[in-house]
Amino acid sequence: MGFPASLADDEKLLFFVDLSHYGFICTKLTLVDPLKLVPDMEQLLFSPLQVKNKTFRNRVVMPPMVVNRGIHTPAGWEWYARHARGGVALVIVEASDSIRFGTEYTVENLIPLVEGIHQGGALAAIQIFPGWRGQKVKPAQLSLDEIHKLIEQFRLAAEICLAAGFDGLEPHGAHGFLLNQFFSPEQNLRADAYGGPLDSRMRLALEIVETLQPLAAQAGALLLYRHSPVRAGYGIPESLELARLLVQQGLDILDLSPSSHNAPGDRAAPFMQLGIPVITVNELDRPERAVEALHEKRADLVAVGRGLIADPDWPLKVQQNRLDEIVQCRYCDDCFACLDRGEPVVCSEWI
Ligand SMILES: Cc1cc2nc3c(=O)[nH]c(=O)nc-3n(C[C@H](O)[C@H](O)[C@H](O)COP(=O)(O)O)c2cc1C
Ligand code: SF4
Repeated sequence: MGFPASLADDEKLLFFVDLSHYGFICTKLTLVDPLKLVPDMEQLLFSPLQVKNKTFRNRVVMPPMVVNRGIHTPAGWEWYARHARGGVALVIVEASDSIRFGTEYTVENLIPLVEGIHQGGALAAIQIFPGWRGQKVKPAQLSLDEIHKLIEQFRLAAEICLAAGFDGLEPHGAHGFLLNQFFSPEQNLRADAYGGPLDSRMRLALEIVETLQPLAAQAGALLLYRHSPVRAGYGIPESLELARLLVQQGLDILDLSPSSHNAPGDRAAPFMQLGIPVITVNELDRPERAVEALHEKRADLVAVGRGLIADPDWPLKVQQNRLDEIVQCRYCDDCFACLDRGEPVVCSEWI
């Protein structure tokens, strides 16, 4: 139970009696540790946040998660609308390959996606992936022409998403994918303006953000960026430098992954000094962990990934104190396995 050594046995009992006596108050408290009551779950997790002209109804974000349902099809529209109805403030639609915009993903077939999310009461952002139609490319393989073409792909994707009504755009710069590889000294083996020293390794991310920022601002949308704070060959100081320049370029929200709970140390907290809202993620579906991250000011917004696959109503159930009704994620990663098989993502807990 974690009582302090200084408490005598009868004092421990008193501690218990006091808590049970004020049981009605405890419904509004989260017990992170018996001696460390975090007050106001309601205030921390469910207070609104204003970012420019966008109102987040609470602090819970659905992070981007590829679910193989087709963001341009009724199955994809319903998946995201269902999650919006579950109470999240912001839905970030899954990594969507920039090369597919204009052909497969159009304004017309993304409008129902955005409308469904809005009707569920959430804001809608979308993660744009620097893709090559599933083919893996390394930074050193790209010609300068191809880099410029990639930036243009991002521009076209952004224009289509904004015309469809998205409230936010998020380049995918995390998890060892292409933009993250450009940032990593271990993975970026280029010897030109896009490789070598940190300034050059940040160039592609900054040029993409520079391209998207005025488009987002003109449409009244937010610009997010997803970044992994620590990965191959770099750590927090380099990531802070990138974040500082992104903020200078007008970034509105920094989405850090992985950044909390099971990441060694806390990786989001250092970024709170930059003056824009920070999203943190990683096994925050245990409400006490999410509340603790906000309480300790390690982030402004908490993303719940697999927890929302398991139970789209996670936010509503937490807010209504129906914790025992939550379909709890057990971190088995069977949902990831669906991705490997190219199947729609399902949760093993549903069966
Ligand atoms: C099925 C699945 C698909 C994912 N797809 C993406 C993605 O498209 N883009 C991304 O940045 N992260 C992706 N992630 C990572 C999540 O956004 C999140 O960072 C991760 O699951 C950790 O959060 P959690 O512990 O709350 O699940 C995916 C995760 C899962 C489980
Ligand atoms: S399949 Fe496993 S890891 Fe994925 S959401 Fe369900 S319980 Fe969680």
